[in-house]
Amino acid sequence: MGFFGSLDGRVVAAPSILSADFAHLADEVRRAKSGGAELVHFDAMDNHFVPNLTVGPVVAASLVRATDLPVDAHLMVENPDNLVPTFIEAGVNSISVQPETVTHLHRLLVMIREGGCEAGVALNPTTPPEAIEWALPYLDYILVMSVDPGFGGQSFIPEMADKVRRVREMTDLPVQVDGGISEKTAPLMAEAGAQVLVAGSAVYKGDPESEMRKIVAAARHAAGQA
Ligand code: DX5
Ligand code: ZN
Repeated sequence: MGFFGSLDGRVVAAPSILSADFAHLADEVRRAKSGGAELVHFDAMDNHFVPNLTVGPVVAASLVRATDLPVDAHLMVENPDNLVPTFIEAGVNSISVQPETVTHLHRLLVMIREGGCEAGVALNPTTPPEAIEWALPYLDYILVMSVDPGFGGQSFIPEMADKVRRVREMTDLPVQVDGGISEKTAPLMAEAGAQVLVAGSAVYKGDPESEMRKIVAAARHAAGQA
């Protein structure tokens, strides 16, 4: 069973490498792991779906070799179908795609799972949860974006806590949240039922170990798991 399938209700956190120092990626991940991170969130951006450009499967493969944490790829790219096979080959644990970029979502989710990865979808702030209702049997997790994808350091959109609640009414699948997550906002999302908290700038703005630790503690406390 994969990372998301084994969570069993536990609240966990992941650093987003987008705000890390890319010249020292393995070390940046190691420091977040010392603060309690259990997953690494890997943001791939293409300057088409989002107006930013980051890294792809080659860097993912290096990171997979350099860390013992599972690597979770969040694809913010047009035509993710072209990249999914190489991310699978790179050895990532899980791949989430933005349904706004996919024509044949069912086929793509099946491809991700058949490649041995867990499959997720990432919902933009105004994409309704109902858009993925018929995809639920093919999913291992749902990512609720709490900012518009593209950049780190944006402001948390507070209505997204209600969206997490709505998703939780639809399904028991683990909900991941991404965007503006900090020691202050993580509890709001954990209270709403989010289980996997992704944080970029809040972790790498200071000492990743202590910043990660604060976010994990705040989220677990809110979820009654302290
Ligand atoms: C945004 C990315 C996020 C980003 C979050 O498009 O998907 O993973 O790194 O950054 P923060 O935590 O700074 O909002
Ligand atoms: Zn992300």
